[in-house]
Amino acid sequence: MSLLDKRLVVVTGKGGVGKTTIAAALGLAAARRGKRVIVCEVAAQQRLPAMLGQPGAADGEQELAPGLSGVAVDPERTKEEWLRYQLRSDTLAGLLGGSRVFQYLTAAAPGLTELVTMGKVWDLAQLERRTEGAVYDLAIVDAPATGHGLAMLRAPSTYAGVARVGPIRRQALIIDAFVRDTDATGVLAAALPEEMPVNETIELEGRLRDELGMALDAIVVNAVYPQRFSAADARRLGALDGRGSAEARAAAAAALSEERRARAERSQTARLRRAAKAPVFTLPFIFEPDIGLEQLERLASVLERRL
Ligand SMILES: Nc1ncnc2c1ncn2[C@@H]1O[C@H](COP(=O)(O)OP(=O)(O)OP(=O)(O)O)[C@@H](O)[C@H]1O
Ligand SMILES: [Mg+2]
Repeated sequence: MSLLDKRLVVVTGKGGVGKTTIAAALGLAAARRGKRVIVCEVAAQQRLPAMLGQPGAADGEQELAPGLSGVAVDPERTKEEWLRYQLRSDTLAGLLGGSRVFQYLTAAAPGLTELVTMGKVWDLAQLERRTEGAVYDLAIVDAPATGHGLAMLRAPSTYAGVARVGPIRRQALIIDAFVRDTDATGVLAAALPEEMPVNETIELEGRLRDELGMALDAIVVNAVYPQRFSAADARRLGALDGRGSAEARAAAAAALSEERRARAERSQTARLRRAAKAPVFTLPFIFEPDIGLEQLERLASVLERRL
Protein backbone atom coordinates (compact mmCIF):
# COMPACT_ATOMS: atom_id res chain seq x y z
CA MET A 1 0.00 0.00 0.00
CA SER A 2 1.35 3.40 -0.93
CA LEU A 3 2.34 5.64 1.92
CA LEU A 4 0.24 8.38 0.32
CA ASP A 5 -2.92 6.28 0.69
CA LYS A 6 -2.66 6.11 4.47
CA ARG A 7 -4.34 8.58 6.78
CA LEU A 8 -1.35 9.48 8.93
CA VAL A 9 2.32 9.47 7.99
CA VAL A 10 4.89 10.20 10.66
CA VAL A 11 8.21 11.53 9.37
CA THR A 12 10.95 11.03 11.90
CA GLY A 13 14.76 10.95 12.04
CA LYS A 14 17.76 12.68 13.55
CA GLY A 15 17.92 16.47 13.82
CA GLY A 16 18.78 18.32 10.62
CA VAL A 17 18.52 15.39 8.20
CA GLY A 18 15.64 16.91 6.23
CA LYS A 19 12.45 15.89 8.04
CA THR A 20 10.66 19.18 7.37
CA THR A 21 11.80 19.25 3.74
CA ILE A 22 10.66 15.66 3.18
CA ALA A 23 7.33 16.22 4.96
CA ALA A 24 6.68 19.22 2.70
CA ALA A 25 7.65 17.37 -0.49
CA LEU A 26 5.52 14.40 0.54
CA GLY A 27 2.62 16.79 1.13
CA LEU A 28 2.99 18.27 -2.36
CA ALA A 29 3.16 14.77 -3.87
CA ALA A 30 -0.05 13.73 -2.11
CA ALA A 31 -1.81 16.97 -3.09
CA ARG A 32 -0.90 16.28 -6.73
CA ARG A 33 -2.71 12.98 -6.44
CA GLY A 34 -5.80 14.94 -5.48
CA LYS A 35 -5.58 14.38 -1.73
CA ARG A 36 -6.50 16.97 0.83
CA VAL A 37 -3.34 17.03 2.88
CA ILE A 38 -2.17 18.72 6.04
CA VAL A 39 1.44 18.87 7.13
CA CYS A 40 1.69 19.18 10.88
CA GLU A 41 4.95 20.51 12.27
CA VAL A 42 5.43 19.40 15.85
CA ALA A 43 7.28 22.52 16.90
CA ALA A 44 6.80 25.93 18.43
CA GLN A 45 7.63 27.61 15.13
CA GLN A 46 6.17 26.74 11.74
CA ARG A 47 8.60 26.73 8.81
CA LEU A 48 6.41 25.53 5.99
CA PRO A 49 4.63 28.81 5.15
CA ALA A 50 7.95 30.56 4.48
CA MET A 51 9.26 27.59 2.47
CA LEU A 52 6.15 27.68 0.29
CA GLY A 53 6.35 31.43 -0.15
CA GLN A 54 3.36 32.26 2.04
CA PRO A 55 3.15 35.22 4.38
CA GLY A 56 3.51 34.71 8.13
CA ALA A 57 2.27 31.61 9.83
CA ALA A 58 -1.31 31.78 11.10
CA ASP A 59 -2.27 30.42 14.47
CA GLY A 60 -4.34 27.49 13.25
CA GLU A 61 -4.66 25.37 10.13
CA GLN A 62 -3.91 27.32 6.98
CA GLU A 63 -3.96 26.43 3.27
CA LEU A 64 -0.45 26.92 1.87
CA ALA A 65 -0.77 25.52 -1.66
CA PRO A 66 -3.71 24.00 -3.57
CA GLY A 67 -4.80 20.97 -1.56
CA LEU A 68 -2.02 21.40 0.98
CA SER A 69 -2.53 22.89 4.41
CA GLY A 70 -0.15 23.38 7.28
CA VAL A 71 -0.33 23.71 11.04
CA ALA A 72 2.09 23.82 13.93
CA VAL A 73 1.47 21.81 17.09
CA ASP A 74 3.57 23.08 19.94
CA PRO A 75 3.77 20.25 22.51
CA GLU A 76 4.11 22.47 25.59
CA ARG A 77 1.26 24.72 24.56
CA THR A 78 -0.90 21.74 23.65
CA LYS A 79 -0.36 20.22 27.08
CA GLU A 80 -1.21 23.46 28.84
CA GLU A 81 -4.40 23.86 26.80
CA TRP A 82 -5.36 20.30 27.54
CA LEU A 83 -4.77 20.63 31.28
CA ARG A 84 -6.65 23.90 31.40
CA TYR A 85 -9.56 22.23 29.64
CA GLN A 86 -9.49 19.22 31.97
CA LEU A 87 -9.40 21.46 35.01
CA ARG A 88 -11.89 24.03 33.79
CA SER A 89 -14.52 23.29 36.41
CA ASP A 90 -12.36 21.69 39.00
CA THR A 91 -12.37 23.42 42.37
CA LEU A 92 -8.96 21.88 43.01
CA ALA A 93 -7.59 23.99 40.21
CA GLY A 94 -8.96 27.08 41.90
CA LEU A 95 -7.64 26.08 45.29
CA LEU A 96 -4.11 25.26 44.26
CA GLY A 97 -3.76 27.78 41.52
CA GLY A 98 -3.26 26.77 37.92
CA SER A 99 0.47 26.48 37.73
CA ARG A 100 0.88 24.19 40.74
CA VAL A 101 -1.75 21.83 39.43
CA PHE A 102 0.04 21.74 36.08
CA GLN A 103 3.30 20.93 37.81
CA TYR A 104 1.71 18.23 39.92
CA LEU A 105 -0.05 16.54 37.02
CA THR A 106 2.96 16.71 34.76
CA ALA A 107 5.24 15.24 37.39
CA ALA A 108 2.74 12.49 38.11
CA ALA A 109 2.36 11.60 34.47
CA PRO A 110 5.52 11.52 32.36
CA GLY A 111 4.75 11.35 28.69
CA LEU A 112 1.60 13.43 29.07
CA THR A 113 2.97 16.04 26.69
CA GLU A 114 3.58 13.39 24.05
CA LEU A 115 0.15 11.88 24.62
CA VAL A 116 -1.80 15.09 24.13
CA THR A 117 0.40 16.05 21.17
CA MET A 118 -0.32 12.67 19.62
CA GLY A 119 -4.00 13.26 20.36
CA LYS A 120 -3.94 16.48 18.40
CA VAL A 121 -2.09 14.85 15.52
CA TRP A 122 -4.53 11.91 15.55
CA ASP A 123 -7.47 14.32 15.36
CA LEU A 124 -6.03 15.86 12.16
CA ALA A 125 -6.19 12.42 10.53
CA GLN A 126 -9.84 11.75 11.45
CA LEU A 127 -12.66 12.01 8.93
CA GLU A 128 -14.82 13.17 11.80
CA ARG A 129 -12.83 15.75 13.67
CA ARG A 130 -13.20 16.28 17.40
CA THR A 131 -12.41 19.91 16.85
CA GLU A 132 -14.02 22.11 14.21
CA GLY A 133 -11.11 21.79 11.78
CA ALA A 134 -11.38 20.88 8.11
CA VAL A 135 -11.30 17.25 6.99
CA TYR A 136 -8.15 15.86 5.34
CA ASP A 137 -7.41 12.63 3.50
CA LEU A 138 -3.88 12.56 4.82
CA ALA A 139 -2.04 14.12 7.75
CA ILE A 140 1.75 14.19 7.52
CA VAL A 141 3.54 14.75 10.81
CA ASP A 142 6.91 16.40 10.83
CA ALA A 143 7.89 14.78 14.11
CA PRO A 144 10.63 16.01 16.41
CA ALA A 145 14.02 14.27 16.32
CA THR A 146 14.15 10.50 16.79
CA GLY A 147 13.85 10.06 20.58
CA HIS A 148 10.94 12.45 20.86
CA GLY A 149 9.30 10.95 17.79
CA LEU A 150 9.43 7.48 19.35
CA ALA A 151 8.09 8.89 22.62
CA MET A 152 5.12 10.35 20.75
CA LEU A 153 4.32 7.04 19.10
CA ARG A 154 4.72 5.19 22.40
CA ALA A 155 2.69 7.51 24.64
CA PRO A 156 -0.80 6.17 23.76
CA SER A 157 0.10 2.58 24.63
CA THR A 158 1.82 3.68 27.84
CA TYR A 159 -1.26 5.57 28.95
CA ALA A 160 -3.62 2.82 27.88
CA GLY A 161 -1.59 0.66 30.26
CA VAL A 162 -1.29 2.95 33.28
CA ALA A 163 -4.71 4.58 33.31
CA ARG A 164 -7.05 1.83 34.47
CA VAL A 165 -10.31 3.53 33.69
CA GLY A 166 -11.75 6.75 32.46
CA PRO A 167 -11.67 8.93 29.40
CA ILE A 168 -7.87 9.12 29.15
CA ARG A 169 -7.55 5.35 28.89
CA ARG A 170 -10.37 5.17 26.36
CA GLN A 171 -8.82 7.88 24.21
CA ALA A 172 -5.32 6.41 24.52
CA LEU A 173 -6.59 3.01 23.38
CA ILE A 174 -8.26 4.54 20.32
CA ILE A 175 -5.15 6.49 19.35
CA ASP A 176 -2.86 3.51 19.96
CA ALA A 177 -5.01 1.26 17.78
CA PHE A 178 -4.91 3.87 15.01
CA VAL A 179 -1.14 4.23 15.21
CA ARG A 180 -0.64 0.46 15.05
CA ASP A 181 -3.09 -0.05 12.20
CA THR A 182 -0.71 -0.31 9.24
CA ASP A 183 -3.51 0.64 6.82
CA ALA A 184 -4.03 3.88 8.71
CA THR A 185 -0.58 4.94 9.88
CA GLY A 186 2.83 4.87 8.22
CA VAL A 187 6.24 5.76 9.61
CA LEU A 188 8.95 7.19 7.39
CA ALA A 189 12.54 7.65 8.55
CA ALA A 190 14.64 10.44 7.10
CA ALA A 191 18.38 9.89 6.90
CA LEU A 192 21.54 11.26 5.33
CA PRO A 193 24.06 9.13 3.39
CA GLU A 194 26.69 9.36 6.11
CA GLU A 195 28.03 6.91 8.65
CA MET A 196 26.38 8.20 11.87
CA PRO A 197 22.95 9.00 10.39
CA VAL A 198 22.90 5.56 8.74
CA ASN A 199 23.76 3.89 12.07
CA GLU A 200 21.04 5.86 13.80
CA THR A 201 18.47 4.94 11.19
CA ILE A 202 19.26 1.24 11.62
CA GLU A 203 18.94 1.75 15.37
CA LEU A 204 15.64 3.59 14.96
CA GLU A 205 14.19 0.71 12.93
CA GLY A 206 15.30 -1.70 15.66
CA ARG A 207 13.86 0.36 18.50
CA LEU A 208 10.57 0.84 16.69
CA ARG A 209 10.34 -2.94 16.34
CA ASP A 210 11.57 -3.89 19.84
CA GLU A 211 9.90 -1.18 21.89
CA LEU A 212 6.70 -0.69 19.94
CA GLY A 213 6.30 -3.71 17.69
CA MET A 214 6.09 -1.39 14.70
CA ALA A 215 7.88 -1.28 11.36
CA LEU A 216 9.19 1.53 9.20
CA ASP A 217 7.32 1.87 5.92
CA ALA A 218 10.15 3.62 4.12
CA ILE A 219 13.54 5.19 4.64
CA VAL A 220 14.39 8.29 2.64
CA VAL A 221 18.08 9.03 2.28
CA ASN A 222 18.14 12.77 1.66
CA ALA A 223 20.53 15.12 -0.12
CA VAL A 224 22.44 12.50 -2.09
CA TYR A 225 25.23 13.79 -4.36
CA PRO A 226 24.89 12.89 -8.03
CA GLN A 227 27.16 10.34 -9.65
CA ARG A 228 28.76 12.49 -12.34
CA PHE A 229 31.62 10.24 -13.36
CA SER A 230 31.90 6.66 -14.47
CA ALA A 231 34.45 4.45 -12.71
CA ALA A 232 36.76 4.85 -15.72
CA ASP A 233 36.44 8.67 -15.60
CA ALA A 234 37.23 8.65 -11.90
CA ARG A 235 40.38 6.60 -12.53
CA ARG A 236 41.46 9.01 -15.27
CA LEU A 237 40.86 11.99 -12.98
CA GLY A 238 42.98 10.36 -10.29
CA ALA A 239 45.76 9.66 -12.79
CA LEU A 240 45.97 13.35 -13.77
CA ASP A 241 47.59 13.90 -10.39
CA GLY A 242 49.31 17.28 -10.49
CA ARG A 243 49.63 17.55 -14.26
CA GLY A 244 48.36 20.37 -16.48
CA SER A 245 47.76 24.05 -15.80
CA ALA A 246 46.83 25.38 -12.36
CA GLU A 247 43.21 25.75 -13.53
CA ALA A 248 43.08 22.22 -14.85
CA ARG A 249 44.59 20.88 -11.63
CA ALA A 250 42.08 22.79 -9.50
CA ALA A 251 39.18 21.55 -11.62
CA ALA A 252 40.45 17.97 -11.43
CA ALA A 253 40.87 18.21 -7.64
CA ALA A 254 37.32 19.56 -7.20
CA ALA A 255 35.91 16.85 -9.45
CA LEU A 256 37.84 14.18 -7.59
CA SER A 257 36.69 15.36 -4.20
CA GLU A 258 33.07 15.41 -5.34
CA GLU A 259 33.50 11.95 -6.83
CA ARG A 260 34.93 10.69 -3.52
CA ARG A 261 32.03 12.13 -1.58
CA ALA A 262 29.51 10.62 -3.98
CA ARG A 263 31.25 7.25 -3.72
CA ALA A 264 31.26 7.33 0.11
CA GLU A 265 27.55 8.25 0.06
CA ARG A 266 26.77 5.35 -2.25
CA SER A 267 28.52 2.91 0.03
CA GLN A 268 26.67 4.25 3.12
CA THR A 269 23.36 4.00 1.26
CA ALA A 270 24.21 0.44 0.20
CA ARG A 271 25.04 -0.43 3.82
CA LEU A 272 21.68 0.96 4.93
CA ARG A 273 19.91 -1.06 2.23
CA ARG A 274 21.57 -4.24 3.45
CA ALA A 275 20.80 -3.62 7.13
CA ALA A 276 17.28 -2.21 6.92
CA LYS A 277 14.07 -4.13 6.42
CA ALA A 278 12.22 -1.11 5.05
CA PRO A 279 12.67 -0.04 1.42
CA VAL A 280 15.28 2.72 1.01
CA PHE A 281 14.72 5.62 -1.41
CA THR A 282 17.03 8.50 -2.18
CA LEU A 283 16.42 12.20 -2.79
CA PRO A 284 18.97 14.30 -4.64
CA PHE A 285 21.06 17.05 -3.13
CA ILE A 286 19.57 20.43 -4.08
CA PHE A 287 22.40 22.73 -5.10
CA GLU A 288 20.39 25.96 -5.00
CA PRO A 289 20.96 28.17 -1.93
CA ASP A 290 17.32 28.03 -0.82
CA ILE A 291 14.72 25.33 -0.80
CA GLY A 292 11.41 26.82 -1.87
CA LEU A 293 8.30 25.73 -3.72
CA GLU A 294 10.14 24.98 -6.98
CA GLN A 295 12.75 22.79 -5.30
CA LEU A 296 10.12 21.04 -3.16
CA GLU A 297 8.10 20.30 -6.31
CA ARG A 298 11.18 18.64 -7.77
CA LEU A 299 11.64 16.49 -4.65
CA ALA A 300 7.91 15.72 -4.72
CA SER A 301 8.25 14.37 -8.27
CA VAL A 302 11.00 12.00 -7.16
CA LEU A 303 8.97 10.82 -4.16
CA GLU A 304 5.87 10.38 -6.30
CA ARG A 305 7.70 8.01 -8.63
CA ARG A 306 9.04 5.94 -5.76
CA LEU A 307 6.12 5.72 -3.35
N1 LIG B 1 17.80 17.50 -0.59
C1 LIG B 1 18.43 18.55 -0.04
N2 LIG B 1 19.47 19.16 -0.66
C2 LIG B 1 20.10 20.20 -0.11
N3 LIG B 1 19.77 20.73 1.08
C3 LIG B 1 18.75 20.19 1.77
C4 LIG B 1 18.03 19.06 1.26
N4 LIG B 1 17.07 18.73 2.16
C5 LIG B 1 17.19 19.60 3.17
N5 LIG B 1 18.18 20.48 2.96
C6 LIG B 1 18.60 21.58 3.84
O1 LIG B 1 19.11 21.01 5.03
C7 LIG B 1 18.70 21.75 6.16
C8 LIG B 1 17.94 20.86 7.12
O2 LIG B 1 16.73 20.43 6.50
P1 LIG B 1 15.37 20.35 7.33
O3 LIG B 1 15.11 21.61 8.03
O4 LIG B 1 14.32 19.83 6.41
O5 LIG B 1 15.80 19.23 8.36
P2 LIG B 1 15.04 18.77 9.70
O6 LIG B 1 15.35 17.32 9.87
O7 LIG B 1 13.61 19.15 9.62
O8 LIG B 1 15.79 19.63 10.78
P3 LIG B 1 15.34 19.84 12.33
O9 LIG B 1 15.67 18.56 13.02
O10 LIG B 1 16.18 20.98 12.75
O11 LIG B 1 13.87 20.14 12.31
C9 LIG B 1 17.88 22.91 5.64
O12 LIG B 1 18.69 24.04 5.50
C10 LIG B 1 17.43 22.43 4.29
O13 LIG B 1 17.18 23.49 3.40
MG1 LIG C 1 12.46 20.28 10.95
